[in-house]
Amino acid sequence: MREVTPKKIREMKGREKITMVTAYDYPSALLADRAGIDIIFVGDSLGMVVYGEENTLNVSMEQMVFHTRAVAKAVKRALVLADMPFASYEVSVEEGVRNAVRLIQAGADAVKIEGGQDHEKLVRKLVRMGIPVMGHTGLTPQRYLRLGGYRITGETEEEIEEILRDAKTLERAGAFAVVLEFVLADVAKLVTEEISIPTIGIGAGPYVDGQVLVWHDLLGIYESSPPFAKRYAELGKVIFNALSRYNREVKAGEFPSIEHYWEYQDKGEFEKKARRALEKLRD
Ligand code: KIV
Repeated sequence: MREVTPKKIREMKGREKITMVTAYDYPSALLADRAGIDIIFVGDSLGMVVYGEENTLNVSMEQMVFHTRAVAKAVKRALVLADMPFASYEVSVEEGVRNAVRLIQAGADAVKIEGGQDHEKLVRKLVRMGIPVMGHTGLTPQRYLRLGGYRITGETEEEIEEILRDAKTLERAGAFAVVLEFVLADVAKLVTEEISIPTIGIGAGPYVDGQVLVWHDLLGIYESSPPFAKRYAELGKVIFNALSRYNREVKAGEFPSIEHYWEYQDKGEFEKKARRALEKLRD
């Protein structure tokens, strides 16, 4: 069992800020775990940042299982959380359970679903079975068509009520934490005060119990990133410069240089061996 458990995450509320980052493959998860991140999250955002899709609606269970398996192999300390993709849990509780089981069997310690009120039965069932669940409200990207795009939430009384209702339902059903995405900071603060489980914000301000960022945004892989994401590095530029230099050096005959290859010191010895090998080939 890994060191960071859902119980530990719950106990961190009000004591220590929770860190969470997405990772979709073995090397990234290895680095995130070594850096001390609390939750390593195989998000369905992989549809966009890894597979180049315009939204997350086409992400399949197969993709989630595949990437969860790679991440789980790398992580020793952090909690491994896997996202339930669009339409993998909305049709029926039974289907949701079957798909959550697949992610747990691929090595996840917990699963995340978007929404709250609509999934009370599923969350209860999963928790009773022993599968820890994290909820997600505010901007829920799997519902971006209904929301009218990727926009900030919590501006109207109805939206504040809906976000609160989602969070309280998740708490009641036994979820161990809830993501608040692109929610006005005052609303995120209110939710954080109103529920006993941790809130983990993304674009939701500082008054929450933890923060989550997408790997590619945090590390500056693409030229642009969402307005709420802090770029802690500009790895896109670093990678581009390294690849361009490699390309130039191979074309110019500068790579490989002497420290990157091995050759016979005694050329006479090599010639003898090569002649014999060639003769054998001719026989
Ligand atoms: O899939 C994802 O990366 C997410 C985060 C934005 C929380 O759901």
